[in-house]
Amino acid sequence: MRILFVCLGNICRSPSAEGVFAALLREQGAGLNVELDSAGTHAYHIGEPPDRRAIAAAKRRGIDLSELRARAVEDSDFARFDLMLAMDEDNARELRARAQSLPASTAQIRLMMAYSPLSEQRAVPDPYYGGASGFEEVLDLLQTASEGLLRELRGIERGVVATI
Ligand code: 4NP
Repeated sequence: MRILFVCLGNICRSPSAEGVFAALLREQGAGLNVELDSAGTHAYHIGEPPDRRAIAAAKRRGIDLSELRARAVEDSDFARFDLMLAMDEDNARELRARAQSLPASTAQIRLMMAYSPLSEQRAVPDPYYGGASGFEEVLDLLQTASEGLLRELRGIERGVVATI
């Protein structure tokens, strides 16, 4: 299973999602074969590490994002990844539009928050223009969604769930 986390810039939300889910997999993912990456639909910051506020907030939770580097979503990602998890509706719409023009696209495009039990919260809000608390909220939301995603992957392993 290959999973790509996607936001706008690939310096705040999607690298945070990659880091949070990677940490959860290390703790509770024994036996699961999952490859992770993240990318941005617009990626104004290609080659840069995550926003320093994202790095600091994740570090407080024992998660190191400092080695990640921003990249843009590429056409080949639509055939390489099984799941593309968008942080908000804009990202998802953008991915779906692009997938339509790519005959080789096989990826399932879903909202990251579809895996959260907080079903009324559809988006991971963009924290870029806000304060430090926005980055904490991003991590809180990603933690609950990641736990749901892990449960879903375990269900697939057991052949219980066939939705993705
Ligand atoms: P992200 O946040 O999509 O969560 O990485 C943003 C990062 C950069 C910009 C916007 C959102 N920007 O406008 O540069």
